[in-house]
Order: sequence, then C-alpha cells, then structure tokens
Amino acid sequence: MDNRPIGVFDSGLGGLSAVKELQKLMPNEHIIYFGDTGRVPYGTKSYETIKKYAEQDVRFLQSFDVKAILAACGTVSAVALDELKQKFSIPLYGVVDDAASKAVHETKSGIIAVAGTEATIGSGIFERKLSNYGLSRYIGVACPLFVSLVECGFYKEDDDVVLQVCERYLGFLKNTGVDTLILGCTHFPILAPVISKVLPGVKLINPSFEAATQLKQRLNDEGLLSDKNDQIVEYYVSDQPIKFANVANIFMGHGIEAKMVNIEK
Ligand code: DGL
Repeated sequence: MDNRPIGVFDSGLGGLSAVKELQKLMPNEHIIYFGDTGRVPYGTKSYETIKKYAEQDVRFLQSFDVKAILAACGTVSAVALDELKQKFSIPLYGVVDDAASKAVHETKSGIIAVAGTEATIGSGIFERKLSNYGLSRYIGVACPLFVSLVECGFYKEDDDVVLQVCERYLGFLKNTGVDTLILGCTHFPILAPVISKVLPGVKLINPSFEAATQLKQRLNDEGLLSDKNDQIVEYYVSDQPIKFANVANIFMGHGIEAKMVNIEK
C-alpha cells in the first residue's frame, strides 16, 4: 500500500477527463491536479517549448512527493514523455500507448483515425504506434479549435457552433471506411457526444479512460494503491483559478476550488 498522492497534469482543463476516470476507478486515491492555464494551449507550440513546460509541470508535482505522475495531455505524451522519463526517476505515464492499443483491438475495418492537436498529429506518434501493431491505414486530423472550445466551456451537443466546428474538422471521415477514432487529446472526450453526432457508428477511444484503467492496473500490480478511505483532489493552476473552477465545475459536476501557483520560478 502507498498512500502518497498521484500527480496529474495538462495544459488546462483537458486533464480533468482523466481525473474523472481516476476518481471512478480509484476512490481511495489522493490526486493533485495541475492545469497550466497561464500557458494553454500547448498543442500549437514548438516541441522545445512543450518539453520545457512539461518539465516544469513534472517538477511542480514532484514537490508533493507523488508516487506516480500521469501526463494527462496527448501533446506532452507525444512530444516530451520519452525525455521526461529519462530525466525523472518517478514513474511517469502518458495517454498515447493505451489509446493506440485499444483502437487496434476495436477496429474491424482496420482504418483508424486520430484527432489531436497540431503537435500530436505532426509528431507522427500514433502512426508509429499503430504501425507497430501492423496497421498502416491511418488518418490523422489536427483539431486545434477543439481545445479553445472546451477551455471556453463550449461543449454542449445542441450548440451549433460546436457542431459546425466538429463537422468542419471531422465530417470528411464519413466516407473513408474509418470505424474507430482515437480522441488523441484529453480535451476531446468532453466533446464526444457532439463528435458522435457527426460520426454516428464510429467507435470513439477515450485516452483518459484507457490511461486511468491502465494506471490502476499498474499501481495494483506494484502494490501501490492507497488504502485510505478518503478521496481528495487538489487543483492547482498557473493563472485565473476562479475562471478555471467555473468551467471545471460544469465538467466535474461538483464544487472545485483551484489554487494559483507560479511554477516558473
Ligand atoms: N489536452 C492536451 C492534449 O491532450 C493539450 C491541448 C493543448 O493545450 O493544446 O493534447
């Protein structure tokens, strides 16, 4: 048993989709969440900048003596995770590998699409992971506006603006034989009901759910789950804690308070 917290981070609100899954799967865990709201989005930045931010995020979470860190960010997982693993001894996990293996398991047509940030799609990471499973029919789609929509609290199924943006980015997939779409950014599961309207019948892979499930398994295998019966989630952000909490409350469905921190010092 290990009652130390689990660290989770993202550029902003997207990683909350992972916190939600972790809370459901591991009711005894203490979670420390960091959302880098002062520097969101990550997915439009250079790889150097994303790596620098990710390193600062990990250093901040490490200061809480966490037992593991989940980079609940497709962009960081795609661009920075390998280097972070070399720099830090703490167990670090991302959201790419488990989503890719789940998609391979689910597809029947053998044609998989990935929606992600510009950095994630540009990195080619999903293409490489899927080809390791022998899958070569892959379509990557960068959907940067999805991040802004979610950060602004635009996600509802009946919102014409959200529907139009989803249609614009993903509508063309209807005639491609794609039967499985990996939501390669943790902001995107929040838009899943709208995406399903645009792509009925296409199986959506939620990277946050897959990563949370595997994290539980790994902690369990290593005897690192907590046996304390009180779930705590602490939220930290790098800018505008009240704005973060207001939008986060909509997604999480309960009262959230976030503290402001400066992780650049
Ligand atoms: N939610 C993150 C991801 O999974 C970051 C998106 C962004 O900041 O651009 O990619």
